[in-house]
Parts: sequence; structure tokens; C-alpha cells
Amino acid sequence: MRIGGKATRSIWVTDDGTAAGIIDQTRLPHELAYRLLTTARDAAEAIRTMQVRGAPLIGATAAYGVALALSEDSSEGRLELACERLMATRPTAVNLRWALERMQNRLLPLAVSQRREAAWVEAAAICEEDALLNQSIGRHGAGLIKRVYEKTSRTVNVMTHCNAGWLATVDWGTALAPIYTAFDAGIPVHVWVSETRPRNQGAALTAWELAQHGVSHTVIADNAAGHLMQHGRVDLIIVGADRAAANGDIANKIGTYLKALAARDNGVPFYAAVPGPTIDWRLSDGSGIPIEERAADEVTHIQGRMEDGGVTSVRLTPSQSHAVNPAFDVTPARLVTGIITERGVCPATREGLMKLYPEAGTGLRRIA
Ligand code: MRU
Repeated sequence: MRIGGKATRSIWVTDDGTAAGIIDQTRLPHELAYRLLTTARDAAEAIRTMQVRGAPLIGATAAYGVALALSEDSSEGRLELACERLMATRPTAVNLRWALERMQNRLLPLAVSQRREAAWVEAAAICEEDALLNQSIGRHGAGLIKRVYEKTSRTVNVMTHCNAGWLATVDWGTALAPIYTAFDAGIPVHVWVSETRPRNQGAALTAWELAQHGVSHTVIADNAAGHLMQHGRVDLIIVGADRAAANGDIANKIGTYLKALAARDNGVPFYAAVPGPTIDWRLSDGSGIPIEERAADEVTHIQGRMEDGGVTSVRLTPSQSHAVNPAFDVTPARLVTGIITERGVCPATREGLMKLYPEAGTGLRRIA
């Protein structure tokens, strides 16, 4: 997508082919800063500290982490150690496991001398495929937005949560891909951007990337979502996913479940945009999805920009108060109107997903 009119991706390989470049997302929206990942340790740290985040981008960064590790030493031991360390960075997004297993499956059978180059090629393929999958999600999801527009002949109001835009993927985004596609096709669209406490990925990242692309949007406090739905100001909700279980239960950023409940109460369609690598076929439902527990200071403190331009963190709560910070929740499939995948929109059921991914029933791990 575009930054200041220039086509940009969230991760890329440097011209000399020895490092991966990223946007340091912890600095947005106040500063557009880039960082080079030159070692596997850099890649793991970037994921752990959320300089890169979002399920598909975590997977892509981990793949480059493997390539960086093998650039130093292509032995089987080094490959396994790198995968183990990268796997330990964040627990919820299944794209991390998916990408590391794909790298291992591709690289382990090769001769040591072939692994280094093959790792860079495979990581690049993961990135290319991610962009294509999301572009396809965009096409399918834009159909839903178009249908509302054809029915109402007015601006379509889409609500989203967290950041499931191009910053969370390699390009296009998942939940935002339908919005960009509809916008680029000339459909009038407005986005309600839920701020997404405590890390504020909505206010900081979604708002920033929509602004860069010129899409009309309004940031709301998370707690305003139900009220807006009640007053007919939301036509549909599209969220992303960090992991979908085989029955259509969706793990996504904390607060997604509350939006789904309010959507059901108000008859607002609630969609999850889910690329194939985000479906965990090993889980029959969402109860087994590991939910990341993050540091309490993300709740007790907030980061912002001061009048003098400096960015600082301030305390919100009494110093004696404890805080708890689950980073994701699971929305049961029964609250999900449909799942937008790269292969089409399906009901949030095992049957619905299996119809689009029949190969999942054959025990094949590698989807997409
Ligand atoms: O904790 P984060 O910022 O890595 O959270 C992931 C997300 O960006 C969202 O949950 C998103 O909706 C799914 S990733 C496309």
C-alpha cells in the first residue's frame, strides 16, 4: 500500500540481499522509522517487542529470521535452534508456527550447502504469497461492502478493531484489504477505527495507514462501539484474526468478542478476514488457543506525544493498583456472520471452511 503516495511493504530484503528491512511499528504514528534485521536474534527481538506485529507479518519476519540464521550457519542444529527461539517470541498468532514449519519442511531435506539460498527464496515466497492472499481477501470482502452500497446508495460505514491492515501483513492487510479494494474501486467508504486499548493499534496504526491511503475514518474509544451500532451507524464489522480454529472460532485482539456480542444484539453483520495460514486445523475449537498475557504496564501506562514533539509514557492508574493484560480473546463461531478468506466468504463452521479447504481433511498441513 502507499506511504505518502509511494508503494511500500511492511518488510523487504535489502539490495545486497543480506538483511531484512522493517518499519518500526512501535514508533508510529508519530515517527516513520525503519530498522534493519541483520541476525536471527534481531528478528526474534523485533517480533517480541512488537516492532513488527500482526499474525501474517510475524510469520514473514520469522521466515527471514531463519534465513538470517542460516546465513551464519546452515547446519541442522542451527536451523532447529533458530526455529525454537523464534517460536518462543509470541504465542497466539498461528502464522508463526505455520511459517517456521514451512521453512523447516523446505530446508531440512536439502544439502547444507543449498540451505542458505533456499531459505531466502522461501521467505520471499511466503511474503509474495501473503500479499496475493490478502489481495484476494480484498476482492471477496469488497463484494460485501459493494452490496451494502448498492442497497443504500450512501457511504458504507465499516467498523474494525486493532490493526489488521497492511502493517499487520506484508501488504494489503486482512480486514482492511476489502476496505482498500472498495475504496480504490470508487465505493464511498468510511471506517470506524476502534482505538484498541491497551496498545492502541487502532488509534496508532490503523488510523495512520488509512490516512496514508486517503480513506475516510474516525477513531473511537473502544467503549463507543456498541452505542454506534445501536444507532444504526455501522453497516458491517470486519476484524482480522490471529488464529482461527477449524470450527470457525476466532482469536483476535482483546475486545473483539465484545464487538461481536454488540453486533449480534444489533443485527450488524460481523465478519472475520482470515487467510489460509491463520487457520489452525489442529484445533477443533477455540478453547485450545493460547492467549498471550502481556505486561501490566501496557494497562497502567499510556504512551503519547507531548506538545514539544517528544514521545513519552505516563501513568494512568494509582501506583498501588494491579492490572491484568490478556492480549487476545476468542469470539465463538456462532457470533461470526462469515469468514472472508482468499478462496471466498464462507460460514463460520467446520463445514464452511472445509468446503473452501478440502485438502485440510487429507491431513495436509500446508494450506495456501
Ligand atoms: O498484538 P498484535 O498487534 O500483534 O495483534 C495482532 C493484530 O494485529 C490483530 O489481532 C489483528 O486483528 C489480527 S492480525 C491480521
